[in-house]
Amino acid sequence: MVRGQLSARGLEELLGHWRSAGPAYEALADVIRLLVLEGRISADVRLPAERELATRLGVSRTTVTAAYRHLREAGFVQSTQGSGTSTTLPTGQPPAAGDERGAGLLDFTRASLPATRLLHEAVEQAMSGLPAHTGGPGYDTIGMPELRAAIADRYAERGLPTTPDQIIVTTGAQSAIALVARALVARGDRAYAEGPSYPNAYDAITAAGARLVTSPVTVEDGWDIEALETAFRRTSPTMAYVMPEFHNPTSRTMPLEQRVRLLHVAARMGTVVVADETTAELDIDGGDSPPPIAALADRAAAHVVLIGSASKLAWGGLRIGWIRAAGDLLSRVAVGRAATDLGTPILEQLVVARLLRSVPEIRDERRVQLTERRAALWDAVGELLPSWTLPPAVHGGLTAWIGIGAPASSQLVLAARARGLLATAGPRFGIDGAFERQLRMPFTAEPDDIRRAVEILAECWPVVNRFDAEAIPSVSSMA
Ligand SMILES: Cc1ncc(COP(=O)(O)O)c(C=O)c1O
Repeated sequence: MVRGQLSARGLEELLGHWRSAGPAYEALADVIRLLVLEGRISADVRLPAERELATRLGVSRTTVTAAYRHLREAGFVQSTQGSGTSTTLPTGQPPAAGDERGAGLLDFTRASLPATRLLHEAVEQAMSGLPAHTGGPGYDTIGMPELRAAIADRYAERGLPTTPDQIIVTTGAQSAIALVARALVARGDRAYAEGPSYPNAYDAITAAGARLVTSPVTVEDGWDIEALETAFRRTSPTMAYVMPEFHNPTSRTMPLEQRVRLLHVAARMGTVVVADETTAELDIDGGDSPPPIAALADRAAAHVVLIGSASKLAWGGLRIGWIRAAGDLLSRVAVGRAATDLGTPILEQLVVARLLRSVPEIRDERRVQLTERRAALWDAVGELLPSWTLPPAVHGGLTAWIGIGAPASSQLVLAARARGLLATAGPRFGIDGAFERQLRMPFTAEPDDIRRAVEILAECWPVVNRFDAEAIPSVSSMA
């Protein structure tokens, strides 16, 4: 069953700088393979006709024919008489290699720490509180009063007075993003997201029917606020998905003056600002923690929705997130939720209600861990890959957005995969195949594993970094 069609132009955008020093057909097949593995091209999508793609990419048709053959042999596409070539997943290989994770591979595709050491005690306390709740049906589409109260109190501690009826508990922040996007966006609407940004948010927002517009955030300069304002003025986005604190992947925090400008332009254009604060509590160096951006909303008459999560502070395995919004939007979210999800598990909510009472302690624990792990990444990259550019200042969050100095991120990730390291290539964080010169490395693994991961990258780098622009014409005509 073919579920969609990718135009030659669409594929060209996704491919970005796909060429490498090897034969062109191999480079083309490699990058399409990575796009399928990372879910950037879904299964059952028809690829462009060979002739059309060859013209678009400026290569010979035999190059495209050979690339498609290569992909067919590896099980990533199938060709049927009359319906062209469409993507498939090789049997037994889920995207992003879920099966491979247990097999001793280093997984650097997720930026997540192990559970807080307070988890055990919180689970025990939650277990003793559970019998008071087991007499009911257990379906909880809004969130338990004690957890909503704990979330509201945490906002108040951070400088944003909040009542429990402004909160809905969700199955992680991911589900919160999807629910909010579905409640806000109509098919064909524009939605804003930073470039780069958290890729699963791009996917949730486009799945809700939006077309994405973007403006840059860089490790050196943070938000290009003029470009953001221009994007808002030109496109009047229905919603804007932003990460004002420890933005993933750059780890930058938006300064106060830019927050005010963002809210003013949003208010003017009727845009709802959806701020994802999943990593907001993870400051490593103990600098100023600004209050949530919603604390400024009244000043600008802007509508701000906050999304939070227990995943990065406490543990991803709890699968608890939440939405803070005005009552009418929360009602729409609650009504829309039943189509995909009938509520959040009770025991986990009780656990998080307890953990949220110990946030300062958990933050201290995370600070110690992240200081050590950040140093491990910086030391290893500085020593083994000195030509790479580490971000000048990462004071919090979980990730380094590293400049690798050549448009070879996808090729690097493919080469690393063959040596047992799973990482996510730069273009996964963009919407149009950009960021081939960047690699996102989380610093959440044990220091030894971080060192090993960088060693693998350093082994692969000389092989993939033979990119030579002058060699391309002769290379592409080879196949
Ligand atoms: C910015 C951001 N938002 C949301 C999520 C998803 O979080 P959760 O585990 O709560 O679904 C992540 C996880 O990586 C993230 O980095």
